[in-house]
Amino acid sequence: MTPLIQLTGVGKTLKGQGEPRSILSGVDMTLHAGESVAILGRSGSGKSTLLSLIGLFDRPDDGQYLLHGNDISRIAERRAARLRSAEFGFVFQRFFLLKHLTAMQNVAMALVNGQGWAARRRRRARVMAALDQVGVAHLAKQRPPRLSGGEQQRVAIARALVREPRILLADEPTGALDTETGALVIDVLHAATERGCGLVLVTHDHAHANRMGRVLRLNDGVLVTERAGVSV
Ligand SMILES: Nc1ncnc2c1ncn2[C@@H]1O[C@H](COP(=O)(O)OP(=O)(O)OP(=O)(O)O)[C@@H](O)[C@H]1O
Ligand SMILES: [Mg+2]
Repeated sequence: MTPLIQLTGVGKTLKGQGEPRSILSGVDMTLHAGESVAILGRSGSGKSTLLSLIGLFDRPDDGQYLLHGNDISRIAERRAARLRSAEFGFVFQRFFLLKHLTAMQNVAMALVNGQGWAARRRRRARVMAALDQVGVAHLAKQRPPRLSGGEQQRVAIARALVREPRILLADEPTGALDTETGALVIDVLHAATERGCGLVLVTHDHAHANRMGRVLRLNDGVLVTERAGVSV
């Protein structure tokens, strides 16, 4: 089966005023549908940089990036933007919910297209299904300031899931939550992989990392395997 993502020899170099500085080098990584991968690593090791390359916010300077087998290593921003919204769901440490909108409206923001009654009704059904998937459908009418951190993060995950992305990228999604609440958020992400989503989770928490199928570690921009997956 063609992997969702295949990175080969991917590198990123920062070219500022001084000496160019390597942020990522020789990164090889594969992700299949339904697979989950944790990425551990010290602060500054390149985790967020790697996620932003995978999520097409940036392009590698070296190596190859295949998405569903298509080489997108050097694609232009227009196409990247289209792929980003079609293929990926993003979850961040800070939830980035709009506080004057309800949970439903926040999730619906990810579906801003289509007009008219039928489209609106269908949109509402998708939003409610996404909120239900993460266990917060009963909070649909609440605004973020009335929700706990864990509830807000679940709304943010519903927003990431509502377009049915094939790949979920989560950058320290439990970083602002206590351990128990964080574990619930990991449950929700894990459930998405059972529906076939690929998941890349950046975390500092070993317990959370160990819930993933594979554990990788970035050491100063070099990706190594800490725990390989069970091969089937
Ligand atoms: N836009 C930028 N300009 C300059 N340096 C940058 C930029 N983005 C990242 N860096 C540098 O690249 C390196 C990797 O940063 P990155 O944010 O990927 O680390 P991280 O592993 O996500 O760290 P953290 O755990 O703190 O989030 C760091 O040394 C950082 O200072
Ligand atoms: Mg980071």
